Amino acid sequence: MLAYTVYSEAGGVGKTTLAANLARAEVRAGRKVLMIDLDTQEASLSYLLDVDEDRDNDQADSLLRHMIDRPRGDFSELIKTSEGIDVIPAHNILEYASKHLRRREEEAADFGETFNPNKQLLRVLREAGVHETYDTLVIDPPATADIKLHNAIHATRHVVIPFEPSGKGYESVQGLDQLVTGLEDNLEIEVGVLAVIPNRYKGMNDQDRFLDELRDDGWELPVTLRERSSMLEGCWAEQCTAFTYVETHRERERDHELDTLEKFDNLSEYIRREKEVPA
Ligand SMILES: Nc1ncnc2c1ncn2[C@@H]1O[C@H](COP(=O)(O)OP(=O)(O)O)[C@@H](O)[C@H]1O
Ligand SMILES: [Mg+2]
Repeated sequence: MLAYTVYSEAGGVGKTTLAANLARAEVRAGRKVLMIDLDTQEASLSYLLDVDEDRDNDQADSLLRHMIDRPRGDFSELIKTSEGIDVIPAHNILEYASKHLRRREEEAADFGETFNPNKQLLRVLREAGVHETYDTLVIDPPATADIKLHNAIHATRHVVIPFEPSGKGYESVQGLDQLVTGLEDNLEIEVGVLAVIPNRYKGMNDQDRFLDELRDDGWELPVTLRERSSMLEGCWAEQCTAFTYVETHRERERDHELDTLEKFDNLSEYIRREKEVPA
């Protein structure tokens, strides 16, 4: 199984947008895809893919319940499907993930058991047979480096990193090595960077200079995603991926939008090749 977390330390750089469209591109390539939304903010993946109706239902089962050994039902019942993508939506209880996981860790310690609070998503996915059932797993974590991110990294061991080639994006890529080594040291595992993706590129000179610097530093930038506000805002309005938006909600095709869709397809193919997984 190909597995990765779409991560960046900065918020609003296009993680969710990229994750959803990469997942859709994987489905287009004939692969069976599972996405996990670990971000409780309103405008998250679960909203974008229109699977967030149970997020504040206290009675509903949730992924976190499975992670702390308090499931209310079968793992398979957590899954909703949107555009051919299987999704485990975010539930508001995830905001308290740290509290519940640490409490469970203490309880386990009292009984002489071990319970690693960072590895519970991995355990749940293994026990559910996700590694055998799916070709691709994509996780959309929150922008904060918390216990949810740690669980995502343990479960995927690979990251795809979008950034804006401007202002804070400059810093976030320069801090990239630190980010990845920080995670590796913290979790005592190796973390692979599958791709670094400039997003919202506008063709400005200082952006070109920055991207050149990154290439000189040895970073490979397989695709650059341009500013596509109209199409991507439309996706949030219609709650769908860009592929569905262009196909269903646009009266005529626009070349620059088709170009961006092709980039999502190319990028997903590039990532598969990076991991050398069969199509
Ligand atoms: N290439 C792009 N061009 C224009 N707007 C974009 C682009 N990528 C993302 N956005 C917009 O930026 C906002 C934040 O994107 P989102 O995917 O929610 O980021 P994050 O998950 O990192 O917070 C959204 O309104 C989204 O439509
Ligand atoms: Mg997001």
